[in-house]
Parts: sequence; structure tokens; C-alpha cells
Amino acid sequence: MKTSDSISVKYRKDYKPSAFLINKVSLNFELFDDYAIVTARMMLQANPAAESSGALVLDGEELELQGIEVAGQKLVQEQYEVDSEQLTIWLNKIDGLDYQQASFELVTKVKIYPAQNTSLEGLYLSSEKFCTQCEAEGFRKITYYLDRPDVMSTFTVRIEAEKKKYPHLLSNGNQIEHGSLANGRHYAIWQDPFRKPSYLFALCAGDYDLLEDHFTTRSGREIKLEIYVDKGKLEQCHHAMESLKKSMAWDEEVFGLEYDLDIYMIVAVGDFNMGAMENKGLNIFNTKYVLAHPETATDQDFEDVEAVIAHEYFHNWTGNRVTCRDWFQLSLKEGLTVFRDQQFTADQTDHAVKRIEDVKVIRSHQFAEDAGPMAHPIRPDSYIEMNNFYTVTVYNKGAEVIRMYHTLLGTDGFRRGMDLYFERFDGQAVTCEDFVSAMEDANDYDLIQFRRWYSQAGTPEVTVTSEYDELHKKLTLQIGQACPDTPGQSNKQPFHIPLKLGLLDKDGNDLPLELASNKEQLTGDILHLTEAEQTFEFVGVSHKPVLSLLRNFSAPVRLFYDYNDQELAFLYAHDKDSFNRWEAGQRLFARVIWQLCAEQEAGEPMQFPLHLVNAVQNLLSDESLDGRFKALALTLPDIKALIEEVERVNLDHLIAAHDFLKRELAKQLEMDWLVHYQANHHVGAFKQDKAAIAKRAFAGVCLSYLVALDKPKAYELAVSQLVNSNNMTDAETALQLLMHSNYSQKEQIADDFYRKWQNEELVVNKWLSAQATDPTDSTIERVKGLIEHPAFDIKNPNKVRSVVGAFAGSNLPQFHRNDGKGYVFLAEQIKQLYSVNPQTAARLTGAFNRWKKFDDERQRLMCEQLQGILQLPDLSKDVYEIASKALG
Ligand code: TRP
Ligand code: ZN
Repeated sequence: MKTSDSISVKYRKDYKPSAFLINKVSLNFELFDDYAIVTARMMLQANPAAESSGALVLDGEELELQGIEVAGQKLVQEQYEVDSEQLTIWLNKIDGLDYQQASFELVTKVKIYPAQNTSLEGLYLSSEKFCTQCEAEGFRKITYYLDRPDVMSTFTVRIEAEKKKYPHLLSNGNQIEHGSLANGRHYAIWQDPFRKPSYLFALCAGDYDLLEDHFTTRSGREIKLEIYVDKGKLEQCHHAMESLKKSMAWDEEVFGLEYDLDIYMIVAVGDFNMGAMENKGLNIFNTKYVLAHPETATDQDFEDVEAVIAHEYFHNWTGNRVTCRDWFQLSLKEGLTVFRDQQFTADQTDHAVKRIEDVKVIRSHQFAEDAGPMAHPIRPDSYIEMNNFYTVTVYNKGAEVIRMYHTLLGTDGFRRGMDLYFERFDGQAVTCEDFVSAMEDANDYDLIQFRRWYSQAGTPEVTVTSEYDELHKKLTLQIGQACPDTPGQSNKQPFHIPLKLGLLDKDGNDLPLELASNKEQLTGDILHLTEAEQTFEFVGVSHKPVLSLLRNFSAPVRLFYDYNDQELAFLYAHDKDSFNRWEAGQRLFARVIWQLCAEQEAGEPMQFPLHLVNAVQNLLSDESLDGRFKALALTLPDIKALIEEVERVNLDHLIAAHDFLKRELAKQLEMDWLVHYQANHHVGAFKQDKAAIAKRAFAGVCLSYLVALDKPKAYELAVSQLVNSNNMTDAETALQLLMHSNYSQKEQIADDFYRKWQNEELVVNKWLSAQATDPTDSTIERVKGLIEHPAFDIKNPNKVRSVVGAFAGSNLPQFHRNDGKGYVFLAEQIKQLYSVNPQTAARLTGAFNRWKKFDDERQRLMCEQLQGILQLPDLSKDVYEIASKALG
């Protein structure tokens, strides 16, 4: 643990190549229940590309050094120095060592305590099985090393442990040897032929159930596939295995990328800080992203498992074969891999639905981050704790930036760029700049201005005004762009923004697009915005069109255009771009919500605008639409996304308006919701094809409107769906709706659900978060009770996220209670957690980031908690960074 006076900031501009390289490393792990001995033997060499120095500085934290040898000599006191973060070896004090000329061997021996490691970083235990998490800088908690991604080496790993308790001993690459030892112990030796940085190292040891399968690559190589899970969970692994095979086939087909090792292993663990980790040949997964069975997992869970399996698999090329030079380049692998997994999921499901889901994440979370105290470019310039930069900006905005190359260069051009990227950089640790230059060179396309997406933080604002000239059949668009100041950055330069657009005629058909001049500013339906102010003149526009702007969300920007209700209703009914069809509905709803806020502000009663009824009814009964799309198009905008639309929010009014609109739509269309619910809610044998999934999604939204009526009949429907369901999608939907309602029997519902599912941890987590997100007043007491419940465990991040994360992140009315009790609760949990698991505690702290959006009293209450957090003794640098930046 660090105190705030030892906290230092790392800068991207300070990058220097490592003074030493590690040509090969062999690790020996002697595992015992309460400690482990790690012996590391490495061949080191002075880096010809760096300044040489007599000091070899290795990273290492929380290690007990037991021995150290260089070139066969045991080192003595004055030849090295150890502090809490480093081991420094004075090579020039070692007799006869010519470290500048020849490579030399270093052997270290350390003792570590995995059973006491609650940070879930380094080597730790999860339900009595050993596992590791090394990204970003966790390897240094396992042994002394040059723990940076540009130091790549080949690893040989020997593991020994008690045979009965730990029958499976796994590490990266291929097993080359195994055998028995005295005292009931055994060992295995693994060799990874690919050079890799330390963050991709993995080790697992324990007693698992194993699902085996295989995949034949298109060049005919046979790959062994293995999934290791807790005993008894085998029947929940088949979906993950199918997802893995689909991912392997997709990457061959779409990117021509084949798997390289002969074996691919996945291990599922219950205690994990994030979703999953792409360790070479040995992925480690949060159980939430492996286990899936229709009785215990929802359709969304199935999709998430498939997406995360794909994401980690795709990292084998975008991340492992080509890795990052330093952690500032994280988006090089993450933005690219997220884009790849998004495309994969779109291909497996539905492109429009997937696009809408991804944009919802950007709008509700990334826009907030980009406008808050933690705003950073997708390639950050500095950090205190790298773990705090695994963000929606680096990942999801990073993916939006990759998507823009795809939009600008086309599918083939993008593929040419990827091919050149691998041709140039396979086996290397590179930068975002290297990626851009590959895209540029492969396509002979100028990306000079486009590079600003890597350096400038903040969400660009694009403002459009239009004028139609009836006489000359001309449409003039005046388009401005600006990017707000963010911490440490002002006066931003214009971005190259691809703005996809369409002009709709009276029947909703697209009119042809043609510019009067500067024709290079339009390619196909993409308008190239490159300046702060631009005018575009479209000719041959036969009559006044309705504008469909930023189709498919072609750039991660906020678009301002003064639509009226008629235009939005028209787009909601007719736009050929499904994304913008959804978007028009969202804008229509948002306008009404802000209008209702204004009415409250003026002390007037809220008035439901009847024009909405028609628009919603039309969509509801449009038989041509997919059920999942309908579900999205009938869902009101997320309150979090709405908050980002205004400078400051009156949260009470916003929530009241949102509730009012939901209830009025429920009432006005009561019969419609019921009819569609009954037509789509399916009882009988469970199916999980696209049609069945779509029906469940649509029925779920219909049920949510019915429950909003607050009538016994509607509650009966939800209860019946819950108790009669044979799948978790229907069960969880009903559970959430009931738990968030005024239904008088909801305690009973909660108790029954728990009794039924208490042995399925992932289902219990759903039960926890359904309660933590109940917007009614009693929730604050309830969450305090949940923390004490046997199902809760502060050491388990999934539990913490299900209760505390869900409460602070998804229960706006209760987290932002005006008595401040929600904030006090969160601060209390951070206090309990920061020394147990700094990473997870820091994530929770981020819930305070948007405090400036709220009224004076809430601001004061939130700042008070942030200040209290900063006063905590031995505060972790993870939490320190978030809390101190939040206060500014
Ligand atoms: N690289 C992982 C991924 O994107 C995520 C990751 C980063 C991670 N740091 C982590 C996972 C720490 C667990 C713990 O897939
Ligand atoms: Zn990733």
C-alpha cells in the first residue's frame, strides 16, 4: 500500500526503451496451501537500443527475497538494494561480469503468499484453486522482473504442488513434461514457444471439471480446446465452447487469422476483477463470462459470453502476436479487439441491434467519462495507476475510432491495413502510431488529421443547420464542430469526422446525394468534416428532404440539429438506417422528457403530448421489425444519457418526468401492450433461436409498461411469468420489474427466488442487483442488509458489483437521495474495500465523478464523501487517483 506522498505520475512522453532485455526465462513454482516459492532463472542482455548503465532495476512488489545470483555468484548486501517496488542490482560491482558484452544469467528466489492476496492481482487463490492475473503490472507481485510489455521473452514454467488437491497444473503453451514427486506431490512443465511480455503469463492449479473439444484450422491443423471450471459446472460450458469455435472460424474467414499454438485453454474463476484475460494459450475468465445455461443465464448473458470469448480469442492476434510498446498504447489492442468482437457479434446476431447496444454504452458511460474529471484521450498522456485506465474511453471510444477507419477505408481497405499491420509488426511491441501508419500506407490515404482522435480528449459537438432552396433544388448544410475543454487540454483542433447521412423524400426513400463543388468532401454517403465551420451545398434535391444525420452513429460525437416532432416521428417510422430510426425515437422521447421537466420548473402540471401515442403505436405494430429492435425502440432513453445532455440537472424533476412518461405511455396504450405481450410471451418448450430471443425481448418491454400501470392484474402477469418460466430471461425480467415496483408481495417474491437459486452463485448475483436497483425509498436499508447477507462477500468483485456497483451506478433515485445516505453508503463500502481490493474500490469511487452535474446540496454531499475518502489512512493509489481527480 502506498501513501499519497509516494504517489508519482507516469507520462507517455517519458518512454525510454528498457536498458536490459530478457532473452529467456524459466520459472519454478513450488505451491503450498499457505505460501509459494518462485524461482526465476533468466538470461539477460544489455539492450543495444538503449543507454547502458551499471544498474539493473527490476520491478517487484510484496515479494520476500530469499536469494539472488548473477552469473553463478551469490550476491552480497552491497551488490543490490531492495525497496517496496524495486530490486536494483549493481552489475558493475560484480567481479568479472561484462554485462555490456555478453548475456548473463540472473536467478532470484522469492516467497509469496497467494492465500492472503485479496487484490486478485498477481498469484492468488479462488475457491481453493491457484490462478494469476498479470495485466497490467501484476507480474511484479509474482517475481522480480522487467515488468513492461516491450520486454518480450520465451517462458518455460515448472509447477509443483500436492497432487490430490491440485491435479491440474496449467501454464501458457504446451506441456512438455509431467510426473510424480515424493510426499504426494507432482509437477508439470510448460513451454510457450512465442515470445511474450510478462502481462500475458498465466498459471492455474487446482481440481477442475474439464470440457474438451477440438477445432481444425483452415490449413488443417488440429487444435485441442479445453475449458476448466469448478466441479459440477460442466453442463454450463457448452455455449462457451461453441462460441470459441465460432470465433476461431470467424477470424479465419474475416481477417485470415489462424490460431498458432496446438492447444487453447480457458479457466473460469469466481473471483476476478474484470471480465476475462487473454493470457497466451491460457485465458482466465470470470465465471460470469463462461457459464451459461438457459435455466440460469439470460439471452443477454449468452450474448455476453459469446462476445467475451470472442474478444479474448481475437486478442491472440491483436494484443499477443502484436502487443503494446507501453501501457499508454493500450487502445492499440483494446480498441481494435473490441471493434473486432463487436463485428463478430453483429454477424452472429443483428447488425442494427448490436450497433444500438454499443452506442448506448458510449452515450451513457463514455460521454460521461469524457466530460468528467477523468477525461482522457484514447491514448492517455499520463496516469498514476494504470489499472484506472482500463476505461470505456480506451476500450469503447477506441473501438469507435477503429470503426471510423473501417468507414473511411471500406471493408477491403480496412483489411488491407490490417494485413500490412501484421506483416510489419508480428512479434513486436508497437504503438498506436504504428497502427495508423499501416492503415495509411496500405491504402495511400492521408490520416494526418485523423490522428487527433488519439491525442484529444472530450466528445466533439457537431452542429448542423440546413436551408432548402426550392427554386434551385439546392440544400445547404452549415456544419460546425467544436470540442470542449477537458482536464489539461484546451483549444482543440478540428477532427476528421465521417458524417454518414441521408436525405429522405416524402415516402421515406433516400434521395441521391451530390455536392455542387468540393466533391471530394463526399464519398458515397459519407460527408468529411474537417474544419471548425463548413458549408456543403447539395444539388438536384427534388424537394425539401428530412435529414437523417450521423447514420449508424458514424462518429463518436454529439449531434445538434433542430428537429421538430413531425420530422422525428417521420424518421422513427421510415428511416432506412435502423440505427437512426431508433435514434429518432430516442430524441422524440427525450424532447418530451425535457418538456415535462420545464413544466415542473414552471410549477405547472405535467402534460402528456398525445402525438406520441401514434408514433409509438405505429412502431409497436410494425410487423416488419425485429422484436429486439422493437424492444430497444420502445425503451425510454437512459437517465444517465439524458443527464449528459444538459449542463446541470434537476434530478428530481428528471426522474419524475421519466416516470410520468413511462406511466402515461403504459396507460394510453394499455391494450396494445397487453395484446403484444400475449402474442410474444411464450409458454411451453424453451427455444433459443433468433425468433424466440426476439420475442422474449419484445414481450419483456411490453411487460415493463404493463407493470408501470401499478395494477393487480399486471402484477399477476409478472408473477406468473416468474413462477412459470423455464428460462432465466423471463424470470429475471419479471423479478426486476416486481422488485422495482410497489407490488405488495415483493418481499415474498425475493425470498422465494433466493430459496430456489441460493446454490447458483451467478443467479444469486442477479437477485442481489435486482434489490440494489429498486428505486423505492426502502432500498437504502435493504442494501445495508444485503452487505450482511451470507450471499455477500466483499472479497468477491462480482458480489461487490452486484450490490454496491449496481446501487451506485444504476439506481439513480436512491444513490442520489437528497438526504445523502446513498453517498454515505458508497463511501462506507469504499472504506471497507480499498485495502482489500484497490482496483475494485477505485471503480466504485468513479460513481462520484459526475458530481458537478447536480444541485448545490447534492454537490456538497458528494464532495464531503470524496474528501473523507482522501483522508483514509494508507489510501491505495488506485482510489487516490480517482478521488483526487474528481475533486480537481
Ligand atoms: N486485457 C483484458 C481484456 O480486455 C482485461 C484486463 C485488463 C483485465 N486488466 C485486467 C482483466 C485486470 C482482469 C484483471 O480482455
Ligand atoms: Zn481486451
